[in-house]
Amino acid sequence: MRIDVVSIFPEYLAPLELSLIGKARQDGLLELNVHDLRTFTTDKHRTVDDTPYGGGAGMVMKPEPWAQALESIAASQMPANSQDEPTKKPVLIVPSPAGERFNQALAYELAEEEQLVFACGRYEGIDERVIEWADEHFTVRPVSLGDYVLNGGEVAVLAMVEAIGRLLPGVVGNPESLVEESHSDGLLEYPVYTKPSSWRDREVPAVLLSGNHGKIAQWRRHEQYRRTAERRPDLLPEFDAGRLTRADRSAFGELGYDVVDGQLRRRPDGDLPA
Ligand code: ADE
Repeated sequence: MRIDVVSIFPEYLAPLELSLIGKARQDGLLELNVHDLRTFTTDKHRTVDDTPYGGGAGMVMKPEPWAQALESIAASQMPANSQDEPTKKPVLIVPSPAGERFNQALAYELAEEEQLVFACGRYEGIDERVIEWADEHFTVRPVSLGDYVLNGGEVAVLAMVEAIGRLLPGVVGNPESLVEESHSDGLLEYPVYTKPSSWRDREVPAVLLSGNHGKIAQWRRHEQYRRTAERRPDLLPEFDAGRLTRADRSAFGELGYDVVDGQLRRRPDGDLPA
């Protein structure tokens, strides 16, 4: 995969040289280029912002430096596999609190792409005409990390590149760890423990020391249900409950959920399990 990031603070992206993503770059699994937006300005002061039309607080990023930066990236696209096969448009991700929500499903979807370009806005954002115009060269997706406001897109890019990059083949040493982690199946991950089995008068749950793999798997699944019901009940209506075992249904029953038409339904408070 090739990733290009455009920012007025290219140093902000330095952590992408570290750890698993840094190693993936060294190993040639990921090509990542960071571009300074100011190199695409033409005035003495290398200006990237101006006052908003219509008035209001803050500054807006000027369109022309963005067009220059994005055109130069589009022109340097990876060659297509064969000459007659047209190159697929790269995805242009514009981090913004006004975008669609980033989640694990979107990370998996974007990990399938050949090329991603991230446009890090600052101030009040980028002139909207850039977003419309960029449609010519890119599939444009404004994406939000969550319902809060950051000072710019760079921190969001660090998070998204890590979430996407670790899904690329060969980046995470043991691909099984991707299967069992939070959000991979729409639930939160079960709690984990390591040695010593007794620590400051706290014991590791006995089932994990039992050697009974069936029991351990069931305990872990039920811990996922309990955690998700407690911490993220909003995830449960989306969970595919159609193939739950009787023991799984009864675990959800104790948490106050019934399975109706293959979906979990919260029982009205106070109702006894069906
Ligand atoms: N830029 C500013 N706030 C953001 C957010 N919540 N997500 C993505 N990019 C942003």
